[in-house]
Amino acid sequence: MKQVQVGLDDRSYPIIIREGLLSEVGNELKLRQVGKRYIIIADDRVAGLFGQQVIDSMEQSGLSVELLTFPHGEANKNLQTITELTSSLARLGVDRQDVLVALGGGVTGDITGFVAAIYMRGIAFIQIPTTLLAQVDSSVGGKTGVDIPEGKNLVGCFYQPKCVLIDPTVLQQLPSGELLNGLAEVIKYGVIYDSDFFNFLVTNQKAILEQDIAIIEAVIAHCCTIKAEVVAADEREADLRRILNYGHTLGHAVEAASDFTIAHGSAVAIGMVAVNKIAVAKALLGAERAEKVHDLLVAYGLPVTVPAELDRSQMKGFLLTDKKTVGGKPFFVLPTQIGKVLITDDVEEDFIDEALG
Ligand code: GLY
Repeated sequence: MKQVQVGLDDRSYPIIIREGLLSEVGNELKLRQVGKRYIIIADDRVAGLFGQQVIDSMEQSGLSVELLTFPHGEANKNLQTITELTSSLARLGVDRQDVLVALGGGVTGDITGFVAAIYMRGIAFIQIPTTLLAQVDSSVGGKTGVDIPEGKNLVGCFYQPKCVLIDPTVLQQLPSGELLNGLAEVIKYGVIYDSDFFNFLVTNQKAILEQDIAIIEAVIAHCCTIKAEVVAADEREADLRRILNYGHTLGHAVEAASDFTIAHGSAVAIGMVAVNKIAVAKALLGAERAEKVHDLLVAYGLPVTVPAELDRSQMKGFLLTDKKTVGGKPFFVLPTQIGKVLITDDVEEDFIDEALG
């Protein structure tokens, strides 16, 4: 069992990582006295996979629980889903003493957090992330929101959960592509913040890919520790938190230009290699270090090149409409060594063209 604290004064919360935790959610919540009644929000797939297990655990602990579902997929991370869920909450008579439970991946966490932030001007919520990507990144730090036709995550707010409950064993029930999706974010932490962790990922590649549960638990805990430190220092992404967007600015452009057929983790891996090319071209990063990152991503089975069929000018258009772009200039997180990055918007267009290949 591992526990990490996100330190945000009176909004601080624990991240609990424990094998088998999904069947012990009820006890954990009873112990923490988070609320009176719990409303689980899950997509139809996750509800089918894990919903009953969580409901049983909560009922066995004497907690009152309801389940609300929405259709799976990023395409449903929109305002219509928010409208439907808030209406369902009102019809159930949910009040400010009740607690929402985000059970699922990043889409569910973003939707549930946003509903919790706006329903009755804010009610409590907790996160039970069931994908590696959500466990190491999106469930921690309070980013919530939905997509609109004009862009991804353009409507939302920062709203912190009361706790994050992570059961690493749930990953064994997911398709292997899901693990890969999260591993791109895991490698990201090594490059932006922690060279020892990067080396750990090199050494333990086999155990991680084989999902050795002790190693996976250690990986999740380490990523959450880094994320908690970054979020505690800069909750609203004014400065340090922007390092978490390493590979994401170009990655989002790749994702969008592919019409979201390229998964987020793959797009981020492609984005990391692309921005490393910019860092090398600007003489900020040695070519051999860029190669180490490239080789680790390849070793984990992640893609590293921008697919030839993607429209380069469309991608550059997406860079400009990215919400991280300020004053028409996209910013880039560029490594200067493994474990250290700098943030800059001083990148010539030629370097971007070169990086997109
Ligand atoms: N996923 C990046 C962040 O939470 O800031």
